[in-house]
Order: sequence, then structure tokens, then C-alpha cells
Amino acid sequence: MAQRPVIVDCDPGQDDAVALLMALASPESLKVLGITCVAGNVPLELTQRNARRICELAGQPDLPVFAGCPRPMLLPLTTAEAVHGKTGLDGSGLPEPTMALQDRHAVDFIIDTCLSAGDGEITICTLGPMTNLAVAFVKAPQIAGKIKEIVFMGGAALGPGNRTPAAEFNIATDPHAAQVVMEAGPPLVMFGLDVTHRVITTPARLDAITRIGSPVSEAVTGMLTFYDRNDPDRYGERGGPLHDPCVIAWLLQPDLFRGKQVHLSVETGSPLTMGQTVADWWGVTGKGPNATIMDRADSDGFYSLVVDRLSRL
Ligand code: BDR
Ligand code: CA
Repeated sequence: MAQRPVIVDCDPGQDDAVALLMALASPESLKVLGITCVAGNVPLELTQRNARRICELAGQPDLPVFAGCPRPMLLPLTTAEAVHGKTGLDGSGLPEPTMALQDRHAVDFIIDTCLSAGDGEITICTLGPMTNLAVAFVKAPQIAGKIKEIVFMGGAALGPGNRTPAAEFNIATDPHAAQVVMEAGPPLVMFGLDVTHRVITTPARLDAITRIGSPVSEAVTGMLTFYDRNDPDRYGERGGPLHDPCVIAWLLQPDLFRGKQVHLSVETGSPLTMGQTVADWWGVTGKGPNATIMDRADSDGFYSLVVDRLSRL
């Protein structure tokens, strides 16, 4: 498989961390051009630091990490320490990073990278609020032609949200940014709660990660133990969902997931449903599809891939 050039935009976050580790462990498939960070699970000061901690854990301190927007476009920042802990990476046991943060702003890195690429060459993955990418589109709309696709974790097309009754955390945090991205033009691939709630870190799957027996598996075990969203009523079995790694897993092994092409937009007006991802599942608007929304996963295959990639580091 040819190497796909990607920018990973994220707000680590334990599940972002596992996604980054999987991407960094897969150089034959993915060329990670840079990691751009945004405020989300915790403030920007921590997300950019956490991204660097993960690069160092992966033995890749030369990977460029950029800090981006410190707050959403219009709304005040709301973070998720209740889920991810005070640092955003609680449970990891990782030291403070020593590698440098890049001077350039994440938005400018996204723009410069796209503009110097060929048409439809760059894949952008967003694992947090879409603020950086939206600002990039506002500043330089011509980047749209350079983007192959935008693969994102966010939203809930067919069921309830996890941040509000209607909205998932990443989209709820910056719905205006998400709507800018929906309308920007490049094809979208959505990994929302519809599919991430199908890949549950059961005790047996966590044990398989622990048994790798490396510093990486130790850190991931600590993170996923801290981040255990155990709620069998919600997920149907013991354990919690591993949201963000679905994005990277699909890039590596697309046959693990199934979805449907639909028109997707984001509610930005209603106080009740702000941030809801509205999917035209049955084509009632007559608008052409702008997104593939994933709603099915081979969860055993997914966890085999997670273990395989973490074993490489
Ligand atoms: C998303 O929100 C964050 O807490 C996770 O990192 C993930 O990106 C799940 O709703
Ligand atoms: Ca995230």
C-alpha cells in the first residue's frame, strides 16, 4: 500500500493518544506530516504537551507538533477533565516532554502543507473539535482542492450525544467550526458514536494490550484503565469505547468498517440541539452526499489491529 500523507489534528486525550501511537507505528501506510493540537479535552497548553509526550513514547521526538487555536470559534471553551483527568492524559505515567513545540501556528502548518501539495493529496484527520481546520478553511479556502478527504471522530448521526442529549463532545465543543468543515468541499468520513460505541475495550481486550509487555503497552494500559468508561447499560458490555483510534484504524484497514454516504450538516442555531450532526439518512432533502457516516465495525478485528500496531513500538 502506498504511503498516505496525513496531518493529525487532535486534543490528547487518552483515546487520541492511542490513535497517535497507531499512526506512528504504521509508517508503511501513513506518512504523518505533523500533529496539530487544539483546545478540547483539556486546554491547548496541555493538549500540545500531551502530543509531544506521545511522540516521545513512540520514539519519534523529531515529529513536528504544532499548537493551534486555544478556544472554539464562537463558544467559550468547555473541557472534559471529568473524563480525561486534570492533565488529559491521566493514568499514562508519562514524563513531561523534552522535544520542542514548533513555532509555527497549527493553522498555518495546515495551510502551508496543503498549498505545497498536489491536488487531492493530503488526508486530514481530526480527533477533537474542528477549530484549527475550520480556521484554515476561512483563511485559505483554496486548500480544499488539495485535500483528499477529512476523516474525523465526532458526532452521532443515529443516536443520542454524549456531551448533550443531542450532541457529541467534539462537535458540541465547536459546532460552528464543524459546520464550516462540513461545507468546505472535501469528502468527509465520519466516525461518530454510532460506530465508536461498537468498539468496546472489554477487560479481555485490555488484557491483550497489557500482555504486549512494553513501555508503550504499560502507558496505554494505565491510560485506558483511567479512561475506563465502563457502562454496560450504554455500551452493551463491560468496558468503554475507544473513539479516536477508529479514524486511524480505517486508514490502515478500511474493511473493518461499513457506512453510508449521506448529506451531513451541523446544528448551530438551536440552544436545545446545538452541535447535533444532522444526517440525511434516507435522502429526503435531495442534497447530494458530502459524507460517509460509519455505523458498523468489526470490533475483534479492530482490537487485533490495535494490539498489532502497539506491539510494533
Ligand atoms: C471524543 O471526545 C473526546 O473526549 C475524545 O477524545 C473523543 O475525541 C468522544 O466523544
Ligand atoms: Ca479526541
